[in-house]
Amino acid sequence: MPNHQSAKEEIKRTADIVQVIGQFVQLKKAGKNSIGLCPFHAEKDPSFTVSSDRQMFHCFGCKKGGDIFAFWMEYHGLTFPEALKDLAERYNVQITEKFSATEEKKRSDLRETLLKINGTAALYFQQALSKAARGNPAADYLKKRALSKEIISEFRLGYAPDKWHGITDYLREHKIDLERAVQAGLIIPKKGGGYYDRFRGRVMFPILNLRGQVVGFGGRVLDDSLPKYLNTPETPVFHKGEFPYGLHASFKAIRQKGIAVIVEGYMDLLALRRHGLDEVVATLGTALTAQHIRKIKGYAKEAVVVFDSDEAGRNAALRSLPLFLNEGLPAKAVVLPNGHDPDSFVNTKGLPEFLKLLDSASSMFDFFLDQKLTQDDSDIEGKVHVLKEILPVLSQLRNAAQRSLYAGRLSEQIGIKEEVILSELKSFKQDLSGDVLERGLKGRLTDPKVEKKIGDIQLLNLLVHHPKAVTGLINSDCKTLLSDDTASKIVEVIFEKYRREGQFSPENIEENLDNDDVRIRLREVMVADSIYSNQEVKQAVEEIREKARQKRLSDSVKEIKGDPEALNDLLLKLRAQISC
Ligand code: GTP
Ligand code: MN
Repeated sequence: MPNHQSAKEEIKRTADIVQVIGQFVQLKKAGKNSIGLCPFHAEKDPSFTVSSDRQMFHCFGCKKGGDIFAFWMEYHGLTFPEALKDLAERYNVQITEKFSATEEKKRSDLRETLLKINGTAALYFQQALSKAARGNPAADYLKKRALSKEIISEFRLGYAPDKWHGITDYLREHKIDLERAVQAGLIIPKKGGGYYDRFRGRVMFPILNLRGQVVGFGGRVLDDSLPKYLNTPETPVFHKGEFPYGLHASFKAIRQKGIAVIVEGYMDLLALRRHGLDEVVATLGTALTAQHIRKIKGYAKEAVVVFDSDEAGRNAALRSLPLFLNEGLPAKAVVLPNGHDPDSFVNTKGLPEFLKLLDSASSMFDFFLDQKLTQDDSDIEGKVHVLKEILPVLSQLRNAAQRSLYAGRLSEQIGIKEEVILSELKSFKQDLSGDVLERGLKGRLTDPKVEKKIGDIQLLNLLVHHPKAVTGLINSDCKTLLSDDTASKIVEVIFEKYRREGQFSPENIEENLDNDDVRIRLREVMVADSIYSNQEVKQAVEEIREKARQKRLSDSVKEIKGDPEALNDLLLKLRAQISC
């Protein structure tokens, strides 16, 4: 079979899409489907829908959707061959067929090679760290930083010895293509030929993705030299800001507790973990990104961001507010006492004190206002300045209730009347078109009463949810009832498939659709409820046929206009139809 069809089908039979997606996105039951916050775009109300019956997902917001493979590719940023391989491994399905050497295949081969090289490198660094017998500077350093053996081994920490050709020689001995190791960011080509190690004399922190593979490294010097940390550069498998550090190890605890504690550094995360706080991830010194938050909100109901007390830390907190608001993940902010970061705090004061800080955290919004008001003073100009900064953020909030809630709080805190704030807010241009469109669409799809009025939806829904109905419709003029092109296209493909193969199933027509809009339309019908029960199908077919007949007649009358002879013909036809 072409395109790995048999492996694909076997995986689809074994794996349940709700369970697979549920590992990465928090889903809750809504009728026969499960819904959650979309991991692919910013949203506060769930429009990401997973259908167990159909084994597919669809987001009514951003329109991404498809089967389990489509999800795996989109979520992990992979090509089809990689997704197939991943899922085949997870579900013990053998892939016998070879992939042809398409561009996609080449890309996934390269990534696989780089991940393997990173894995080998991680082992090399780990071994170099465990050679402790001869006074190992990195082992001593980590002891000084109070990290335990368990943490060192769980996070696969290592040591890049202070050599120019440590990993270079090791990889060569292991028959690894050194040009690939360059692409993995581990070694650097020399001008005159040959290579040298990128990481020298550093403690190594492997960075693992959610699939447990090493995508890159951070390396810390053992003294005060600079740069303090060196990271893997951008590579085909490592993209800064794509997901937070430590999520692969923390996601279970995060989901269990419902909270994600977000810190900045490797050491902060590891110190907290050593003290027993497991629900923690780190941003590695970069600003929080929407991508970080989208990954985190697949597990957490709330985030607590711990910032250093310095200026940079406070500014980072301020910049993160719009992100949290837009992603709909409630967030709190904790600012540590002067001079502390989470690592130093928990190591000197202990976990209970740290937990107290978490408990006393204020909401990110209040923190934002607080900071802004003290920074900009509380005179009129200061207030206007704060308003100028915060109104654009609030106006981005799609949820009106939330908007007015925050307007209320803003009014309380800065002493400007709520009406004034609300009217100022109105003057900001709001991009409501997407919102209204989305809600309108959802309404149409979820409210059968509305749905029944619309010919296209009625017919599509019937065919997709009751494929048997095709026999009663294929010889009718039902296509004339369709007013939009996407619906016509789907019905056309269904009829064509039925004519050719004597049957069709909605799951198998997507491949015959060559246009995204049409595919999206199909998915939306597939995950929607059926309008008709099994008992109603026969009657529905009759109704549609009858409507089509009437439509054709009225169309003919329009065409004929003032031509009496043609009108006569038509009446005769009509009489013939009625009598048979
Ligand atoms: P320690 O000094 O080991 O405790 O590090 P830290 O985690 O306290 O570092 P700091 O608060 O200075 O920075 C937080 C995070 O930012 C670090 O864990 C790194 O991921 C990152 N970072 C810090 N310094 C550098 C640097 O010089 N270069 C790069 N690329 N990242 C850095
Ligand atoms: Mn530190």
